[in-house]
Amino acid sequence: MEILVVGVGYVGLVTGACFSEMGHHVTCIDIDQNKISKLQEGEVPFFEPGLEEIVARNQKEGRLKFTTSYCEGTKNVEACFIAVGTPSNADGSADLSYVESAAVAIAKHLNHYCVIVNKSTVPVGTARALKKRIKEQLAQEGSEVSFDLVANPEFLKEGSAVDDCMKPDRIIIGSDSEKATQIMQEIYSSFTFNHDRLLVMSLESAELTKYASNAMLATRISFMNELSSLSEKLGADIQEVRRGMSGDQRIGTHFLYAGAGFGGSCFPKDIRALRAMAKKENCTSALLEAVDTINENQKKLLGKKVTEYFESQGGVSGKKIAIWGLSFKPNTDDMREAPSLTLIDDLYSQGAELRVYDPVAMDNARRVLADKPNLRFCVSEYQAASGVDAIVLVTEWKQFRFVNLKTTLEKMCGNAFFDGRNQYQAKEMQRKGFHYVGIGSPKPPTHLLKTLKSLKKGKSYAHTQLDRADALFD
Ligand SMILES: NC(=O)c1ccc[n+]([C@@H]2O[C@H](COP(=O)([O-])OP(=O)(O)OC[C@H]3O[C@@H](n4cnc5c(N)ncnc54)[C@H](O)[C@@H]3O)[C@@H](O)[C@H]2O)c1
Repeated sequence: MEILVVGVGYVGLVTGACFSEMGHHVTCIDIDQNKISKLQEGEVPFFEPGLEEIVARNQKEGRLKFTTSYCEGTKNVEACFIAVGTPSNADGSADLSYVESAAVAIAKHLNHYCVIVNKSTVPVGTARALKKRIKEQLAQEGSEVSFDLVANPEFLKEGSAVDDCMKPDRIIIGSDSEKATQIMQEIYSSFTFNHDRLLVMSLESAELTKYASNAMLATRISFMNELSSLSEKLGADIQEVRRGMSGDQRIGTHFLYAGAGFGGSCFPKDIRALRAMAKKENCTSALLEAVDTINENQKKLLGKKVTEYFESQGGVSGKKIAIWGLSFKPNTDDMREAPSLTLIDDLYSQGAELRVYDPVAMDNARRVLADKPNLRFCVSEYQAASGVDAIVLVTEWKQFRFVNLKTTLEKMCGNAFFDGRNQYQAKEMQRKGFHYVGIGSPKPPTHLLKTLKSLKKGKSYAHTQLDRADALFD
């Protein structure tokens, strides 16, 4: 089928590329000339595993095109997918201006029946409002073209977006037109070949399903983060608690990891938008408010732990600190609302000398951290670790899990390691000579902490001390 995708961001480009991979003819349009020029030259403007390959293949085979012209993009299309941003307004509600201007631009150029599909995450009622707005625009153009509007929220995850799009858990179609539903079923037929994952519902239910899903996932994270503070105080280990909980099939294993808080372009803004919807309808949203507050506090936790550690050593000012991982999660270069930014703001404002490193987000990091001239951007985790008093791991990139810890410790001048994602075993790290601080794990006994604090690499007594530390653990 002939498809137009509006917006070549994380959702639009992946969707367009996957549709073309399934044999559809796709034109992707964006108002950002720079992104379109890059794509026309075969360059994907952001990092997403596996995307470059399918973009290149389908572009070569003529099934995937890029343009900034709505006139060219709407020609002969059977469906127009809107996948533009819906950032937060100052009051937390979703800013629908990009969605509306995309819908108006489509209406201005449409000269035949088409299904207009909204993929952006939008408040309940937006599909109906868009329908009205498009009708008004068509009337203004003197056009008698008919169309249907479908809500088709997207559930892909950055970092595994191609896989998620090719093998979706479910496809939600909000529709009040039989004809549009059939077209949607045809578009998605190759994605649902083995197993029918397509759920048809009302426009309102489809729009709410997206927010409800993200809010549920964020709630699980905030629940575990809240519990992790209690766990620390009570001498329990949140990792052990998580394993104990997830053995229960009713609870399952996903999204139960305590850490440095959630970020990204979706969870925080979608929670805010859902709360704004509830407020507008005079409904309470006490749980969502708590999820948000817990997360905001959690994002400050690593900064607090680092500050506490250096309190007895003259404070954070002048301390050299490495930050491992900047993107809001692994396998993406997306820095939107990343917890690393909260930490960097905190330590930077206290006068720390920061050395930051991320495997793929360095370009975006340079852009969003341009107001901090003294930051040092490093080329590897080892370079970042050289000569530092402490390392803080914020994003759990796999390469950090298998880093050479002996080399790392040798390069450092101190030995403090703050693990914002519980990637390492406390015992193991302490055995290696690190003063290790995780999230939600019990503090080691005070005498061991003193031993670890006084350890100096390369000194022979260090090993004796480590042996003692071992004995204390066993
Ligand atoms: N990023 C995710 O993981 C994810 C997952 C599911 C749903 N969503 C939702 O999907 C939507 C898009 O998110 P994203 O992360 O892909 O956004 P993004 O910011 O990465 O991309 C949006 C793109 O739309 C373009 N654009 C804006 N107005 C336009 C217009 N009038 N015509 C053409 N192009 C226009 C922008 O230039 C930009 O390239 C949001 O509502 C988001 O909440 C995102």
